[in-house]
Amino acid sequence: MNINISRLQQRIDDLAGLSDNTGAGVTRVIFSDADMQARAVMKKLASNLDLLVREDAVGNLFMRWEGSEPDRKSVATGSHIDAIPHAGKFDGVVGVLGALEAVNSLQEDGYRPKRSIEVISFTSEEPTRFGIGCLGSRILSGSLSAPSASALKDDDGVTLGEWLQRRGFAENTLDSARLVNGVYDAFVELHIEQGPRLEAEDLDIGIVDRIAGPSTTRVVLKGAGGHAGAVMMSERNDTLAAAGEIILAAERVARESESPHTVATVGKLNNFPNAVNSIPREVLLEIDLRDTDPDSWRGALESLNGEIQEISSRRGVDCILHRINEDPPAICDPDLVMQISELSTALGYSHKIIPSHAYHDSLFMAQICPTTMIFIPSRDGISHTPEEYSTPEQIQKGVAMLAGILRARSE
Ligand code: GLV
Ligand code: MN
Ligand code: MN
Repeated sequence: MNINISRLQQRIDDLAGLSDNTGAGVTRVIFSDADMQARAVMKKLASNLDLLVREDAVGNLFMRWEGSEPDRKSVATGSHIDAIPHAGKFDGVVGVLGALEAVNSLQEDGYRPKRSIEVISFTSEEPTRFGIGCLGSRILSGSLSAPSASALKDDDGVTLGEWLQRRGFAENTLDSARLVNGVYDAFVELHIEQGPRLEAEDLDIGIVDRIAGPSTTRVVLKGAGGHAGAVMMSERNDTLAAAGEIILAAERVARESESPHTVATVGKLNNFPNAVNSIPREVLLEIDLRDTDPDSWRGALESLNGEIQEISSRRGVDCILHRINEDPPAICDPDLVMQISELSTALGYSHKIIPSHAYHDSLFMAQICPTTMIFIPSRDGISHTPEEYSTPEQIQKGVAMLAGILRARSE
């Protein structure tokens, strides 16, 4: 089938022009002006393709190509168009604009689906304004309850509910965004790999069999603080020094895990009062710990918890642990993975079955329907930076794969 890659490339470039920042890269934080403008672009593209557009209570956007047998389960695809600060232009976008391009190409080919095909643009896959990732798919799958979601606040104390009102979303309760198990025949997300493996092995396509389960743990440490000259070493409860030990413990737990897929990162650290001659008296750090294996993931989380308690009690600092999210790893549908592998072979594309170490909306879609992902290579394995890049040919192959599976499942 003929995928119009220059049309898609143009749309990707145009969307990158909608950004909350003027510096390098693309920033689109949930419900920012740029995010709202990007949503409007999706709706316009969808209506040009005669798709039925629906937005749910949290702003997930459903663009539906009605099939001739609309009572059967639909085939779903999609990803996200929000972006972390100074990100690239392909993360998520390839999965939404690529899906619209797949639909466009199928239409131009004269295809008429029996099952309906739905392209979903999920709200806030990135943990930007509300500090939690996959907000839309999390609520849609029932993994985040409506009351907990409504209570989410941004850094200015504005709740999700207030933001929805500000942006003119219908006043449905967030409960209404929940989809029941069995609405979809399948969900397939096209995405850039964001890692180096496909490029290193010169492969066209990755087909995802497992998605790592992420967890975020917030640790707040409180100690006495004091004068950096006047308090002797034996009299201190230095919270930043405790945080240093915790950071190294997180690294060690991940390195020593039996699973080669365990990774731990402390990417956020606030120190108070952050003055050179004051002993740090309050520290906040956030630990991201993930794994594709549920047992080693839980084991690593438990041993890290134990280490944090031991370090803080030995150092005489108060410690409050708060688990912001703890989402189990997802196993993708083996039949769907097999079907997509066969499709790749039929199209003459080299491929490999690989895990996804990054999380995606597919992590939550896997809870309500058979799910997998199609990966295309990322140059130098880089993502979440302005240098993120996949070639037009790589994108074209990914979209051809997506169009192929949408067609096969909707016949
Ligand atoms: C998603 O962007 C992730 O952090 O895996
Ligand atoms: Mn991302
Ligand atoms: Mn993404």
